[in-house]
Amino acid sequence: MSTNQKILILDDEENVRWVLKKALEKKRFSVDSAATAEEALKKIESNRYLLVFSDIFLDGMSGLEFLEQAKCLDPDLKVVVMTAQNTMNNTIEAMRKGAFDYISKPFSLEDIYDLAGRAVKSHVDPATESPPPETSSDEDPIIGKSKKMQDVFKTIGKSAPSDLPVLITGESGTGKELVARSLHHYSHRADQALVSINCAAISRELLESELFGHEKGAFTGAHETKVGRFEQADGGTIFLDEIGDMEPSLQAKILRVLQNHEFYRVGGKVSIRVDARIIAATNQDLKELIEQKRFREDLFHRLNVLHIDLPPLRERQEDIPLLAREFIKRFANRKKAFLTREVENIFYKYSWRGNIRELENIVKRSLVLAVSGPILPDHLPTYILEESEYTPALDNELEMRLERWVQDYLRHNPGWEQRDDLYDRVIQMVEKRLLTATLDNFSGKQVGAAKVLGINRNTLKRKIDSMNLSFVKKPFKT
Ligand SMILES: Nc1ncnc2c1ncn2[C@@H]1O[C@H](COP(=O)(O)OP(=O)(O)OP(=O)(O)O)[C@@H](O)[C@H]1O
Ligand SMILES: [Mg+2]
Repeated sequence: MSTNQKILILDDEENVRWVLKKALEKKRFSVDSAATAEEALKKIESNRYLLVFSDIFLDGMSGLEFLEQAKCLDPDLKVVVMTAQNTMNNTIEAMRKGAFDYISKPFSLEDIYDLAGRAVKSHVDPATESPPPETSSDEDPIIGKSKKMQDVFKTIGKSAPSDLPVLITGESGTGKELVARSLHHYSHRADQALVSINCAAISRELLESELFGHEKGAFTGAHETKVGRFEQADGGTIFLDEIGDMEPSLQAKILRVLQNHEFYRVGGKVSIRVDARIIAATNQDLKELIEQKRFREDLFHRLNVLHIDLPPLRERQEDIPLLAREFIKRFANRKKAFLTREVENIFYKYSWRGNIRELENIVKRSLVLAVSGPILPDHLPTYILEESEYTPALDNELEMRLERWVQDYLRHNPGWEQRDDLYDRVIQMVEKRLLTATLDNFSGKQVGAAKVLGINRNTLKRKIDSMNLSFVKKPFKT
């Protein structure tokens, strides 16, 4: 990278400014820095910068406000927003306001060089997007700090302001609908309708009249004229969910809307024009459907102008605890629930074929079972334990349970000071349980049980007799 292009660094921390300046000067950029947004804006007025690295939290003006004003002064200016926390809203907002990219601290110098390099390369291609109007955000957040989800947030931010169609793909439960809502929410159509329709849930005939409406008397049962979803979505967004399941003859009609922005109601003679942004989603492989002649290739290309592919949960495991915590917060009511380390490890190993929806359901289910707080492996369905090859770590679980039990015992038995048998009772109880469970596992065969227990067979026999473990299955006669 060799250049005399100018870069501006805006950060209120002196050491950040210093480190970035030194690093970029090494790559022969000429570097200015500013500690406040006002100072930076003045510099932008009188200099031509290729790139600005701007912190998102600044005294006085936020990094996002700065971004907007800087882009007004110089629409070609590339601004990289830096922040300590990568939240979805900040990323989407920054990209929507025309940021060149978004980077979270701590970053490596390689990241910085990479961004500067990309800015140089794309310099000939000035940014064309203008910032769309403000919307406020109180939608359910899309959770994810993984690189893959950060990229999704960036694409949402870049795609939302446009009127071009968007195709959202991803396995079932990866959040396609959530992303569609977010695209609408961050678009200039946000105060108009978002009309969703699931193309897989309705028969072909009904779907056509749902989408395009029908005229009175168009078919038996059409007693009234009906306005279709496209008309309802005029000025707003229409979300065609499960588009892979749509019949090819209807696909042709969707194609026509995409090309001409007009359609006919079923039985109608007059074409109707609408201005509805089309977002489509599918969990099917459209390329495969095209090969099987079940999906029109021309429609695919028309829809696939902007594409968001949602990664399956197993490919972004670092998001699992984050999501689980969010669902606990949403569904735990007043319970003090949390994931134990063991459950977290099981979650990492499990394949989540139902993705986030499955995780959401598992967390909901386990909250019902985990009455007193921690979510333990016991609270998970066995198929999850089996698939993740879970073997209970005795120490942790027993420790935790005993601890809770002792606390509860002392709290709920006010007369405990008078008794002095807590130790014996617990030890006996544990021993009895341990022997019973082990013997059960060996169908009552004492040899095997004694071996895994690590005690002498006669000792075991004595204990069985003294504890009167008569319910143990009788040993097989060999
Ligand atoms: N990143 C995420 N953060 C928080 N919640 C999420 C996220 N992704 C998905 N969800 C939640 O998971 C559930 C499934 O999401 P959604 O319905 O959007 O998936 P989908 O891809 O449309 O699934 P399907 O293909 O089965 O229709 C929803 O309850 C949604 O709120
Ligand atoms: Mg869906």
